[in-house]
Amino acid sequence: MAKYIVENSGPLEGTLTISGSKNAVLPLMAASVLTDEKCVICDTPALRDVDVMCALIGSIGGSVQFHEQTNQVELETRNILLEGAPSELAQKMRASVLIMGPLLARTGKAKIALPGGCAIGARPIDLHLKGFQALGAEVIMKQDANFDYVEARAQKLVGSDIYLDFPSVGATENLMMVACMAQGVSTIQNAAEEPEIVDLANFLNKMGARVKGAGTDTIRIEGVPKLKGTKHVVIPDRIETGTFMAAAAITRGRIKLENAVADHVRPVILKLRECGVAVEEDDDFIVVDARGSQLKATNIKTLPYPGFPTDMQSQFMTLLLTAKGKSTIIETVFENRFMHVAQLNKMGARIKYEDRRASIEGPKQLKGAKVSATDLRAGAALVLAGLAASGTTEIDEIYHIERGYERFIEKMRAVGANIRMEG
Ligand code: EPZ
Repeated sequence: MAKYIVENSGPLEGTLTISGSKNAVLPLMAASVLTDEKCVICDTPALRDVDVMCALIGSIGGSVQFHEQTNQVELETRNILLEGAPSELAQKMRASVLIMGPLLARTGKAKIALPGGCAIGARPIDLHLKGFQALGAEVIMKQDANFDYVEARAQKLVGSDIYLDFPSVGATENLMMVACMAQGVSTIQNAAEEPEIVDLANFLNKMGARVKGAGTDTIRIEGVPKLKGTKHVVIPDRIETGTFMAAAAITRGRIKLENAVADHVRPVILKLRECGVAVEEDDDFIVVDARGSQLKATNIKTLPYPGFPTDMQSQFMTLLLTAKGKSTIIETVFENRFMHVAQLNKMGARIKYEDRRASIEGPKQLKGAKVSATDLRAGAALVLAGLAASGTTEIDEIYHIERGYERFIEKMRAVGANIRMEG
């Protein structure tokens, strides 16, 4: 079983280029199924999740070519051969659910094996399905020997007003895509406002859609009969950006991040400054300079964008272990996103948590240990912990990390991290 071996690392120093966003490119790839013309997406990160989405679109009849050397993916779904993703693929990645909206819009049918929950929560898709029904689809739950399925069918999709009980990123994306080809006008209220939503709206509008208000809590979509192919450059990955910002801070180093959008990580910048870390920003780069800093404790509450991102919670928890004083972290987005606490406690963290609130006392001198990645961001947090810990940290289940960070080890080593893969 492959694992990362991380040794205590001195201050990380150097310059890194941020890759394209995993959480932006997956919906863009799904949106390409809305047209029978070719779409080209540039700056696509070479990740396992991108490979799964390529396979998914291939399995329903699309032709997909991912050129890893140029980070460009070409997608063309002239004919749809299957109104649903093979179950094994859908089970591999939750974001597979994003193929439902485009399939429903294109063929009037969409069937998908229910993507199971994962370490951070049950991850239901009720808001997606409720939105499909509001647009005129019938939703049926089915079962076979191995999987629970959901099927959506619609003779005609008619624009409607949709209210999301929670500003779900995936539900906002799925409903934007299907509403683009409904008859009439739809609104999505209490919509997610993440930068990935704005990037998807820009992509859809380049395809000929009429989407307004993306990035606010109310999105208005006027349906059109047909969409065309387009070419698009995906936005940089704001969570990769935040993760390397935390890596500079926890090792008291200095890293310059190019192709980074400061506005997309505003809460992370402000919280780092609150802890006493210097952060310089410009149009397309960010410099984090923590050299010689004695970090101060702070409090974090994760919220939907523009609040502090839940995908940065585990990395910041690790950072706060090296800050002086008592910090608290409240996780409001997922019901079970403290799985990394037990792993950090194996390294001497002594973090306590109850329900969604964790208390962190620092500074703690972490000690290297054998730990396991429980989800993508928790795995990244354990790498950060290993950089600051004394001795050697072995991290297994690293497939979680590999699915979401492009060339992670290569980038870490480029700024001086003592990390290697074994097995
Ligand atoms: C996206 O997941 C991201 N994934 C997640 O990143 C991110 O943590 C999350 O948004 C929140 O920002 C991708 O974009 C591929 P949600 P998504 O729907 O769309 C509940 C990472 O590490 N909910 O906004 O699945 C849900 O249970 C991943 O890159 C419902 O109750 O997130 C959760 O508690 C992890 N019913 C909350 O909303 C629904 O129908 C937020 O989920 C949908 C969601």
